[in-house]
Amino acid sequence: MVNLHDIRYLRIGTPDLESAVEFATKIVGLELAGRDGRAAYFRSDKAAVRGDTRDHTLVYFEGDPSDHVVGFDLKEREDFDRAGAEIEKAGHPVRYGTKIECEQRRVQQLLAFKDPSGNKIELVVRPHHSGERYFPSRDAGITHFSHIGLKTSNAPRDEAFWTKLLNARVSDWIGEAPLLRVNTIHHTLALFPSPHPGVQHINHQVEDFDDVMRSYYFLKEKGVRIVFGPGRHPSSSACFLYFEGPDKMVYEYSVGVKHILPEEEASYRPRQFPFAPESFCMWGSRPDIPEFRADLKDKKPPLKTVA
Ligand SMILES: [Fe+2]
Repeated sequence: MVNLHDIRYLRIGTPDLESAVEFATKIVGLELAGRDGRAAYFRSDKAAVRGDTRDHTLVYFEGDPSDHVVGFDLKEREDFDRAGAEIEKAGHPVRYGTKIECEQRRVQQLLAFKDPSGNKIELVVRPHHSGERYFPSRDAGITHFSHIGLKTSNAPRDEAFWTKLLNARVSDWIGEAPLLRVNTIHHTLALFPSPHPGVQHINHQVEDFDDVMRSYYFLKEKGVRIVFGPGRHPSSSACFLYFEGPDKMVYEYSVGVKHILPEEEASYRPRQFPFAPESFCMWGSRPDIPEFRADLKDKKPPLKTVA
């Protein structure tokens, strides 16, 4: 079993790097930490909330907008070689990162593989932290990069991959989609059925609910397309707002995500929510995100109270 510690970074290709930088800083509110050739690095972590500050959490690089890479670090760095061997043995070819790739990611070592849907995953050891304070580009209230939605062509198969090989645990299901935790946070990863692989949404946590609503009005004024919310997830109990970024990437702000503490691990049982709008938002907001839309799936609606 490979023990993941946390999500570290996301690398996303874009044909228009300047527009992506503009959006990540002036709209999302991330800090442009630096540029390296044809890549731009962004930071997001407030040490007082997260306990540390990752060197960077998002990279936009000049390239194919469907090229997404997700990096996780390991709980024990001594497990690196064993992790590579186990993933390889499970039938997923592993490639070890070159010195240049490690430098680009600010890590000591990395190994790369694909999940069964074809999503590019990297495991890293000794990723850099920053001693500098995160200085946001706008007052969005971001405290840290927290989770991603990932597309899957077969949710039960990929759930088995993440839970049996990589030690993720199912916190809840919405239809077939598992919300997976690797630490105490309700989900660091969620797998949503889709015909193509890739990142489905990018979540940043904000300080409080006022930040969600401030951004709602800010984004509307800036003409950014809001695709879901403001609302509240009945699964993680987080309040959320989803909006569309460059190359139709969906970004999310949320606050109040549930934690499953070590003492609750033994007794916690994942809940099954039907694939219905109510399972995504308990306030009645309707998602305009293909992977969240029940009307695009061949599912029976849940029972309703008869008046
Ligand atoms: Fe989310």
